[in-house]
Amino acid sequence: MSRLVIVSNRVPVPEKGGIVPAGGLAVALKAALEERGGIWMGWSGKSSGESEPEPLTVTQQGKIGYALTDLTDTDVEEYYHGFANRVLWPICHYRLDLAEYGRKEMAGYFRVNRFFAHRLAPLIQPDDVIWVHDYHMIPLAAELRQMGFKNKIGFFLHIPWPPADVLFTMPVHEEIMRGLSHYDLVGFQTDHDLENFAGCLRREGIGDEVGDGKFSSHGRTFGGGAYSIGIETAAFAEFAKRASSNIMVRKARQSVEGRDLIIGVDRLDYSKGLTQRIDAFERFILANPGQQGRVTYLQITPKSRSEVPEYESMQRMVAEQAGRVNGAIGTVDWVPIRYINRSIGRNVLAGLYRLGKVGLVTPLRDGMNLVAKEYVAAQDSEDPGVLVLSRFAGAARKLDGALLVNPYDVDATANAIARALSMPAEERRQRWQGMMTHLLEHDVSRWCDDFLADLAA
Ligand code: F6P
Repeated sequence: MSRLVIVSNRVPVPEKGGIVPAGGLAVALKAALEERGGIWMGWSGKSSGESEPEPLTVTQQGKIGYALTDLTDTDVEEYYHGFANRVLWPICHYRLDLAEYGRKEMAGYFRVNRFFAHRLAPLIQPDDVIWVHDYHMIPLAAELRQMGFKNKIGFFLHIPWPPADVLFTMPVHEEIMRGLSHYDLVGFQTDHDLENFAGCLRREGIGDEVGDGKFSSHGRTFGGGAYSIGIETAAFAEFAKRASSNIMVRKARQSVEGRDLIIGVDRLDYSKGLTQRIDAFERFILANPGQQGRVTYLQITPKSRSEVPEYESMQRMVAEQAGRVNGAIGTVDWVPIRYINRSIGRNVLAGLYRLGKVGLVTPLRDGMNLVAKEYVAAQDSEDPGVLVLSRFAGAARKLDGALLVNPYDVDATANAIARALSMPAEERRQRWQGMMTHLLEHDVSRWCDDFLADLAA
């Protein structure tokens, strides 16, 4: 079996005691790396100021070598905050209005990818299989090919791929499309993203599907497919069951005694539909005055990418809105929205999901959304909660037991909350069972195995 080299912007380096930071993706890829032996390369998350980053060092932990590099301040600004998060992220989430094109940032993105390729090159052996993750690293394969590497190289995009009319507003869309053609296999979250990709190739006349899951463009033939990422379903379900006795979860349970809990968990990002969601909750209360004082909406929203102006203004906007709604509909003994602006440990989170009668996952656009999957996995099979899910999250394409909503339609989301809270137990169990069966069959290990098997083929 070939050695695996994984490359991603963020690397889940084990903390003291060998514990890998939270996340099903990290767990699955770590398992694949441990089986084959391999390297995980990426950004350390640190800056070297304006001096050249130190040479790459590989920290070996069992069969995995973690290879991290710092980036200069300019690199972080142009590549990460600039092109990745102010151009590719909004464009891939259909937010043309938020994309900020700058020649410097675009050049920085390609320059940092070349830098990553040069740092990675000495570590690559001829039989290694290289698996690159996410939008930060699209040009990496082209750089490696230019240096003469003939290894199998796969790419998986964790976020949505937009239609041609959206993508083509980006000045360097041609280079981005060409970058993808240098991979042997390009994986998307859903069929919809894959269709959009095929549409982009066709529209410019730069390529097409050539059958059998293959595409041809820029003089290369490569595979393309939809591989919906899963979670560690069985383990997470067990984890959530045990988390019920966690002291923080017990405190949370006592604090909502006699009330139903609605839970939302998202990074603070404009793609998550937080303002529409808070509006929907307010509208639900106003339309159902009998629910006043009987529900608590807990929204856990760690800050994210605060250096990017759109995120900074979003932080202010959501905090103000939560405060305004609490002021408008709260009473002397009831705070309707509990808004938490920091990360919560994974074990507590699992227990909170299980406490939630309703899981509100209403992004305006999302590649997959693993919170939706974790919420389902965390439920008690006898008395499961109801998932209210945006039809614009990749997860909606398979989780058909959820109440699907259009998050732009605030009244419809408000109605879905009301329906979820009054749903009879039998219907809740039936809906949950179908989703849980799907999640058990399509867990993160299967995702990983499917992708790597296709890449090998
Ligand atoms: O899932 C999309 C993603 O952008 C990952 O690539 C990334 O690690 C995560 O969200 C969190 O974002 P960031 O690394 O910018 O904090």
